[in-house]
Amino acid sequence: MAPMRMTRTPGAMQRWAGTWRREGRRIGFVPTMGYLHDGHVSLMHEARRRVGRGGVVVVSIYVNPTQFAPAEDLSRYPRDMKGDRRRCREAGVDMIYAPTDDVMYPGRGEGRYSTYVVEEQLGRGMEGESRPTHFRGVTTVVTKLFNAVLPDVAVFGAKDWQQAAVIRRMTRDLDFPVRVVVAPTQREKDGLAMSSRNAYLGPEERRQATVLHRCIEEARRRVRGSREGVPAEALKGEVAATVSREPLARLDYVEFFDPETLEPRATVGHGSQMALAVFVGRTRLIDNGRV
Ligand code: PAJ
Repeated sequence: MAPMRMTRTPGAMQRWAGTWRREGRRIGFVPTMGYLHDGHVSLMHEARRRVGRGGVVVVSIYVNPTQFAPAEDLSRYPRDMKGDRRRCREAGVDMIYAPTDDVMYPGRGEGRYSTYVVEEQLGRGMEGESRPTHFRGVTTVVTKLFNAVLPDVAVFGAKDWQQAAVIRRMTRDLDFPVRVVVAPTQREKDGLAMSSRNAYLGPEERRQATVLHRCIEEARRRVRGSREGVPAEALKGEVAATVSREPLARLDYVEFFDPETLEPRATVGHGSQMALAVFVGRTRLIDNGRV
């Protein structure tokens, strides 16, 4: 097996991608911000399944500054390149693409970087409302990563449901020749969705963080136990009550919506999607599920 490689510039990445394409090898791509966990690893395996043994799997590791607001956790976002390399190697990844801020956004602080990609519909509510410039950063960086890696298939996690919907829409609207695949959320034994941000949680916060998953399960039980559906307002009230019973937790939003269009639903029946964001201490966590 060829050793795992690492590149740091879009030019070098494009040259590798061009070589692989001329050899007829399919390219599977998993964009990440690093501090890799088993959720990320499951995406790498999915990418490998999609491109086969003769294909190439590329993982990008880049903490993208444009998707963080000034007051957010960019500077303290967890990093562990050594551990990340080991996890990628063990998952059979062929290349890590780890660009730096100066090659991604040259001169951004001095007004010399000025092009962004904006999806104008699916990214408005939920995460987009709580974090107004977040998806602009995500769509911009994913565009740049697609242009460097030139993937046939890109794998995203259902953990970030709205992000996956926004990327899918952007890919279609801008005619990227990329198949977007969404793979299931990986969870800890107690139901907490795996996330790099879980590393911020102290022991008591970690216990209370299971509240997100418990809210999804409670809502699912309520919806599946009713034939004509449940008013979203009633479900939202129940979620708020459950979250408020955890002293360190504070609900940011909860929404019930169509899983494809993200259109909010007034009455929640089977096949609706639910998403919520909760602060546990200072850490903001998100989760979602089908109810
Ligand atoms: P990051 O949070 O590192 O996540 C990278 C990918 O892993 C995303 O597609 C995310 O949905 C997926 N993922 C995270 N936790 C998961 C879990 N528990 N189970 C399954 N998949 C999971 O999302 C980003 O980075 C960035 O916004 C990025 C797309 C890389 C753009 O900067």
